[in-house]
Amino acid sequence: MGGRQFAPEAWLPFFEWLEYTALGTAVRESIWAFPIIEAVHLLGLGLLGGALLLVDLRLWGTGLTRQPIAAVVRHGHRWLVAGVALMFVTGIPLFLSEAVKCYYNTSFWVKMISLPFALGFTFAARRWVAAVAPSRADWRTRLIAAVSLGLWFTVAAAGRWIGFSG
Ligand code: HEM
Repeated sequence: MGGRQFAPEAWLPFFEWLEYTALGTAVRESIWAFPIIEAVHLLGLGLLGGALLLVDLRLWGTGLTRQPIAAVVRHGHRWLVAGVALMFVTGIPLFLSEAVKCYYNTSFWVKMISLPFALGFTFAARRWVAAVAPSRADWRTRLIAAVSLGLWFTVAAAGRWIGFSG
């Protein structure tokens, strides 16, 4: 377990209920479901990480420098959405199968709190970049790249830490 309890006590029955949903039970009772879904979760991480790096390195000013910034942001968007979608589609059944363990796991809560910040920041910042279309990387696009990568690193590191501390 992750040590101290982080979430309100009153949420525990809900997490117990989640763990005994049909999907949670099916994943938990199968030998193969969890590792296979987790492997796809990690493939999604690769897709998401690639989609993030592609755009964030352009925003930093080091990668794809012959392509206009706004075009890289636009083309990267669908891969970002696909990566996030795959993470949710695989993450939810993993979570359901061990909801009570997650409830007691501080890394799980770090991940769930940092995730909306990462999503909100990345989508808002990239919409701004696509609209303003700066012609070259400057301190603003670099700041966006650094904050984006920092937030997503926090989500991914906390995700990995669930396993270490669970
Ligand atoms: C969208 C961004 C996400 C990222 C970057 C991410 C990242 C990760 C990483 C790196 C792992 C560790 C895999 C391993 O140890 O082999 C993991 C595991 C896991 N993720 Fe995610 N994840 C994301 C979304 C989600 C969502 C939306 C959920 C569900 C609510 C979720 C639930 C889980 C669970 C339950 C595990 C297994 C933890 C364990 O017992 O080891 N993830 N995730």
